[in-house]
Amino acid sequence: MNIGVPKEIKIHEYRVGLVPAGVRELVDAEHRVLVQSGAGAGIGFDDAHYQAAGAAIAASAEAVFAASELIVKVKEPQLAECKRLRPGQTLFTYLHLAADRDQAMALLASGATAIAYETVTAPDGSLPLLTPMSEVAGRMSIQVGANCLQKANGGFGVLLGGVPGVAPAKVVVLGGGVSGTHAAEMAVGLRADVTVVDRSVRRLRELSSLFGSQLKTVYSTAHAIEELVRDADLVVGAVLIAGAAAPKLVTRAMVRSMKAGAVLVDIAIDQGGCFETSRPTTHAEPTYVLDGVIHYCVTNMPGAVPRTSTVALTNATLPYVRSLADLGWRNAIGRDPGLAQGLNVHAGQVTHEAVASALGLEYHRLT
Ligand SMILES: NC(=O)c1ccc[n+]([C@@H]2O[C@H](COP(=O)([O-])OP(=O)(O)OC[C@H]3O[C@@H](n4cnc5c(N)ncnc54)[C@H](O)[C@@H]3O)[C@@H](O)[C@H]2O)c1
Repeated sequence: MNIGVPKEIKIHEYRVGLVPAGVRELVDAEHRVLVQSGAGAGIGFDDAHYQAAGAAIAASAEAVFAASELIVKVKEPQLAECKRLRPGQTLFTYLHLAADRDQAMALLASGATAIAYETVTAPDGSLPLLTPMSEVAGRMSIQVGANCLQKANGGFGVLLGGVPGVAPAKVVVLGGGVSGTHAAEMAVGLRADVTVVDRSVRRLRELSSLFGSQLKTVYSTAHAIEELVRDADLVVGAVLIAGAAAPKLVTRAMVRSMKAGAVLVDIAIDQGGCFETSRPTTHAEPTYVLDGVIHYCVTNMPGAVPRTSTVALTNATLPYVRSLADLGWRNAIGRDPGLAQGLNVHAGQVTHEAVASALGLEYHRLT
């Protein structure tokens, strides 16, 4: 199959749909891969790396879209990209259609078949193509939190791990799912005093046996959170209720009770945030101070480390790309019901029930 990888055009997006190692796997399986010149240049994957892996290089996005049956991207297609898509072509990328009606309508108008990373499911019901980004955000949260705690950055002036004779900083992680676990792992690794709060006792049991005495686990109640937050140096918000806005577990009053220079990192900000005082920020201006507490609420944390994020994402997408290329999308989704969950749009119709309902459009079951 002819597979195309265009350069991402969304502002500050450096990730790319396939890395050279992925290209090589596909070329070895007798597919042809066409990569737009410069597609990976921002993260150290030059045209020469792609060529060495067996890709052909195209000078323009137009050439990539025109020659490819399967387009592999990262971000939702922008309006200019939707115009280049056509019936019979398959697009595999993050779509987030419910968030942008204009883009959804443009994608429908293209007549293309679009499979969204974010709705592909694994047999256990998890979301395998969202997991890598939660892993990145979770690990990053401790790195950015530690940085914010430094005095020169307005922080309380504590080192997460302390030193011999000085107690470590107190880190509280709200939510012990994918991102929360990775945050806890990093904080434990830096020798902080770490507590994870979750409403699932089963999850707390798993974390307890995973980390042993290096981690405290606490059942999620307003009372427990109030006490933990008051004493914390760094609080990471990592809760998720699938399909719903994040619960506001930390109220404004709780934030006021914290010491000046303490830090909140709200990973869940893309679902509205789990601190009452959170508002979305960007990498250009990632933090603000409210009631003396530093808030870091960047909605696309993985964007700060696009090289790591790209490799993590493409590790997870590659088996699906292989299957789509080997079998064609219809056979591929026929064999894998989890991949079928990814089908959002086909031939001008919305084929995912939740997406259709979010957009107020008619849902068409694929026949
Ligand atoms: N900001 C970013 O750049 C970025 C990047 C990746 C993911 N995210 C977001 O991070 C959030 C977490 O993602 P995840 O993959 O870790 O989710 P997850 O489903 O793996 O984990 C969520 C955890 O929250 C727990 N939880 C739910 N309600 C709770 C409550 N009231 N009290 C305590 N715990 C509760 C759940 O039991 C679960 O263990 C999501 O909103 C996701 O979209 C943001």
